[in-house]
Amino acid sequence: MKGLFVTFEGIEGAGKSTQAKELYNYLKEQNPKVALTREPGGTDTGKKIREILLTPTEEVFPSLAELFLYEADRVLHVENKIKPLLEKGYIVISDRYIDSTLAYQGYARNIDKEVVKYLNKLATDNLTPDITFLIDIPVEEGLKRIREERGFDRIEQEDIDFHKKLREGFLKIAQEEKNRVVVIDGLNSPQEISAKIIKIFESRFKEYL
Ligand SMILES: Nc1ncnc2c1ncn2[C@@H]1O[C@H](COP(=O)(O)OP(=O)(O)OP(=O)(O)O)[C@@H](O)[C@H]1O
Ligand SMILES: [Mg+2]
Repeated sequence: MKGLFVTFEGIEGAGKSTQAKELYNYLKEQNPKVALTREPGGTDTGKKIREILLTPTEEVFPSLAELFLYEADRVLHVENKIKPLLEKGYIVISDRYIDSTLAYQGYARNIDKEVVKYLNKLATDNLTPDITFLIDIPVEEGLKRIREERGFDRIEQEDIDFHKKLREGFLKIAQEEKNRVVVIDGLNSPQEISAKIIKIFESRFKEYL
């Protein structure tokens, strides 16, 4: 059977990593061919790119530099990991993918959205997820969770307006791609959210269970 590509998106603290792992654990019980990965940093070289992106620096870090680093990470990820796994019939779950770049660098950092979309296409060789779960929460809640969990990293030091643009961006993407992107209310308990995600997964992709 051909592979299946699932992604998780949302603002910081939304619960992407928690839910990606929950879905992974659930699927793994029924199907050994499941892989969990993330962006940035899904490959060896990508881990180095992730470090560059998330380490605070006194230097100017232009949005375009961010964009190119994220896309470079993505090319490495798609070519070395995602595509080979899909070809072997795996369900691949990625914690962040193309929508994060469009939301952050496009909607929040104001780089031309058409340019971001084009680079996303180029970087992925047009590989679009079969389904994307957008976990949506208010900005204040996301930042509160992150603050409680750990200190802010470079991106998280940004002001609240930035995160609001980000959230709106994700929601616009979901509106534009209703068939692919499912919006999930991230304010419910982790258990309720994962039960909902599993239900949606089962209803769309029964044959993978
Ligand atoms: N549904 C939830 N309700 C309350 N707290 C939650 C919920 N889901 C996750 N959390 C907590 O919020 C914090 C952030 O969760 P998680 O790391 O899954 O978010 P994330 O979207 O991956 O964040 P980041 O963008 O920083 O990677 C964690 O401390 C986690 O335990
Ligand atoms: Mg995370």
